[in-house]
Amino acid sequence: MVVRPIVIRMLTYEDTNQIIELERLCFEYPLGERTIQTYMEMLDQISVGAFQNGRLIGLVLGVVENDSLHIVMVAVHPLYRRQGIASTLMEKTENLALARDIKYFTLEVDVFNSSAIKLCQKLGYRITRIIERYYENGNDAFLMTKRAGQEFA
Ligand SMILES: CC(C)(COP(=O)(O)OP(=O)(O)OC[C@H]1O[C@@H](n2cnc3c(N)ncnc32)[C@H](O)[C@@H]1OP(=O)(O)O)[C@@H](O)C(=O)NCCC(=O)NCCS
Repeated sequence: MVVRPIVIRMLTYEDTNQIIELERLCFEYPLGERTIQTYMEMLDQISVGAFQNGRLIGLVLGVVENDSLHIVMVAVHPLYRRQGIASTLMEKTENLALARDIKYFTLEVDVFNSSAIKLCQKLGYRITRIIERYYENGNDAFLMTKRAGQEFA
């Protein structure tokens, strides 16, 4: 098979099955089919995917909440990690949000998920508070937030 370049584009409802598949691969406790379908049906969302040979290998799902974008999922296929794909997708998502005058970004991350915490800190997110027992397994989450323009520490 010819390996083609990675294509970054906005996700649409037609991508739902691939999103569900990638989520299953990346999370111990996936949100599941119905929740993802609901997100993809929302009109006010900004979601971006990375594709190679037509296959989804990374994604960011964001839901618009007033003047904020709530990032509900960031995931990259295990074989494609540490190549800057999540960073690129997050930056693209933020730029699309900025074009709509959305200046605040929020996301929840498991307090034990050091790779995701590092990724977000590198992109300018800061830990704002702890949400106790946020996850199905009882783990707490950090609420991480960013204001546009706060790129790095
Ligand atoms: C977290 C995740 C999205 C990162 O994707 P990625 O494409 O590998 O991230 P990037 O290559 O853009 O990494 C950017 C920075 O994040 C940090 N980082 C990412 N993965 C890391 C790891 N395994 N260990 C330490 N730091 C890590 C590093 O600072 C990295 O920069 P560097 O490679 O120059 O050191 C990916 O590991 C993943 O899908 N994990 C499972 C799902 C998940 O936990 N999602 C986050 C929920 S909020």
